[in-house]
Amino acid sequence: MSTRLNQRWILRERPDGIVKSDLFEKDQVPVPELKQGQVLAQTLYLSFDPTQRAWMAMETYMPIIELGDVMRAGGIVQVIESKHAKFKPGDIVNYLCGWQQYVVFEPDRPGLMPATKLPGHLDPALLLALSLTGLTAYFGLLDIGRPKAGDTVLVSGAAGATGSIVGQIAKIKGCRVIGIAGGAQKCAWLIETGKFDAAIDYKADDLGAKLNELCPHGVNVYFDNVGGPITDEVLLHSAQNARVVLCGAISQYNTPQDQMYGLKNYLSLIINRGTAQGFIILDYLDRAIEGLLCLTKWVEEGRIIQEIDMQHGFDNIPATLARIFTGENLGKQLLQVSEPALPIPTSAVEKMIFNLLRSFVVWRKG
Ligand SMILES: NC(=O)c1ccc[n+]([C@@H]2O[C@H](COP(=O)([O-])OP(=O)(O)OC[C@H]3O[C@@H](n4cnc5c(N)ncnc54)[C@H](OP(=O)(O)O)[C@@H]3O)[C@@H](O)[C@H]2O)c1
Repeated sequence: MSTRLNQRWILRERPDGIVKSDLFEKDQVPVPELKQGQVLAQTLYLSFDPTQRAWMAMETYMPIIELGDVMRAGGIVQVIESKHAKFKPGDIVNYLCGWQQYVVFEPDRPGLMPATKLPGHLDPALLLALSLTGLTAYFGLLDIGRPKAGDTVLVSGAAGATGSIVGQIAKIKGCRVIGIAGGAQKCAWLIETGKFDAAIDYKADDLGAKLNELCPHGVNVYFDNVGGPITDEVLLHSAQNARVVLCGAISQYNTPQDQMYGLKNYLSLIINRGTAQGFIILDYLDRAIEGLLCLTKWVEEGRIIQEIDMQHGFDNIPATLARIFTGENLGKQLLQVSEPALPIPTSAVEKMIFNLLRSFVVWRKG
């Protein structure tokens, strides 16, 4: 047994309403000795995602987190010891590491998500944001929303991690983009930084009146992150052949299933020959590299601003999860657990191949 200790946040209770810090308990266990085929890594950054609440509460597209288990979370880790030929100390890896300082994984044993080595020359925090919600925005908008130049694209949860990227991709594709977000500060970000054409503050504005004013010909693509009454109102403003991308429904996640808001206006999709389609980003993992290549290029060119809301400190982890449900976050909610303990390996050849491949993919995808 190694002398290194691993601090962890354990799930102790299932949520009832909004997630609170007292659902979790901190403990400390020794880091086990590595066996052949295993890798030991230190957590650098954690991602905070609305779906974590669902993982805590029920069986979904992922198994429920058992009480007493480490809280599940995606993150960026750095390899510090390895008994696997393809992973070496210093490597940066995207992994479902959970709320703990150290994690042992076996790359050859299939888990809930594969451990993915990331290019060392790019900022790991940026890659974490782009690899989760960035890819959700990319595939949800382009594959399901199928925006065409000139379309009116409306995004709810627009100043959040997914929504902010959806709107900026839609601008790249030549659309007119309107974001719905809570509060004047977020709406100002949408216009000034995100370069959206218009913003609606759902907490202060009359949503229906604003949609009449801003979308006189209806909404061609609605990218929905929030569900509930906002989505119900938007449906009334569907254009002919509207596409509704059902990405999430955060307004309903803290509500028991039998009390969730039922949509009243979905018949508008019949009248307007519209479609509504849900998706889970895990279905696109085999195309993740395509999305990451495009997104990183757009970020480097300044065509997409990836806002990161970075919190710090291991003790601050549970409180950070609540921020996305209270709307405190602007952009992607991350938390830095530690600084890299080792230099991050970079290779000029790897960088050159990455850039060449990226130019080709971006050119092909337009
Ligand atoms: N389908 C998939 O594979 C997939 C993958 C990733 C994410 N998602 C979904 O995408 C959505 C956004 O996730 P994210 O990670 O990008 O989070 P996020 O948008 O960065 O954070 C959540 C935001 O939701 C808004 N919100 C919270 N409660 C609300 C309410 N009652 N009504 C309206 N808005 C509310 C808040 O913004 P305001 O201050 O503007 O209210 C908050 O900042 C979620 O529904 C999530 O489940 C789906």
